[in-house]
Amino acid sequence: MLVLDPLLSPREQGLRTPGDIEDRVAGDRFLRRAYADAYGANEPMKVENIARSLAAYVSTLKTSNSRFDQYFFLNDLAAITTQEASGYRLFAGRARCTVCHSVGKDTAPFTDGAFHNQGIGANHLRANVRGLVDRAIAIEPNDLGTTVQSSQEIAALGRFLVTHQIADIGAFRTPSLRNVSLTSPYMHDGSIATLREAVKHELYYSAPDRGANFSNEEQEALVAFLRTLNDEDKHPEDPR
Ligand code: HEC
Repeated sequence: MLVLDPLLSPREQGLRTPGDIEDRVAGDRFLRRAYADAYGANEPMKVENIARSLAAYVSTLKTSNSRFDQYFFLNDLAAITTQEASGYRLFAGRARCTVCHSVGKDTAPFTDGAFHNQGIGANHLRANVRGLVDRAIAIEPNDLGTTVQSSQEIAALGRFLVTHQIADIGAFRTPSLRNVSLTSPYMHDGSIATLREAVKHELYYSAPDRGANFSNEEQEALVAFLRTLNDEDKHPEDPR
């Protein structure tokens, strides 16, 4: 069952068996009560039921009601402002953000699902990449999750930790940008505090000429555009 994979993956939640998942739910007062509410007090704890509940939850997460979706897929030209629309034109055009944060004809996931190096954590790597690589190669696969969580330096190696390919040093999976203005801080290590700075960083790392040709006004337009990606149903208020 696909929804259980992250729970059992040593690189994610790291539980070892389906029985561990059942024990976790049974051992948590809140989850145990929710389980009984859903399946009845006499239903034994079964991983199949837990998977069914998770899948039902995940299916509520699809985002399709943002102002961007109304503009782009439903042709509601009034759904976004002219500043936001010019931000989108830059995003998909001159700034080349859609090379990785993909927008398709039928769906717009804002990620290509692939790994790229955007220079986050580069200071850790520059200081001692050789030593970190040696340490990383010695890590037992089962210990990888805990090591990544306890060492920011090791975590900065990114995809390399899994593939041991030099080209993957510092590479991370492109995150989707849906609801992005609601989820500060930014990047895999939370090292960038605001959306404005995140956009500046991304322009530096991936736009032509290190983003030098983007005026303040254009950068503001990009940020304004990113704010149109919030799901209107679930997050009516934007904290920033
Ligand atoms: C070469 C692929 C690539 C391009 C091009 C690219 N990005 Fe990214 N973007 C990424 C990756 C990978 C990350 C995550 C980096 C990390 O955490 O180490 C990211 C992270 C972000 C984040 C932070 C998201 C979060 O939740 O933390 C924002 C915002 C963002 N990009 C916006 C942009 C904008 C705007 C552009 C165009 C100027 C752009 N990106 C161009 C790959 C790319």
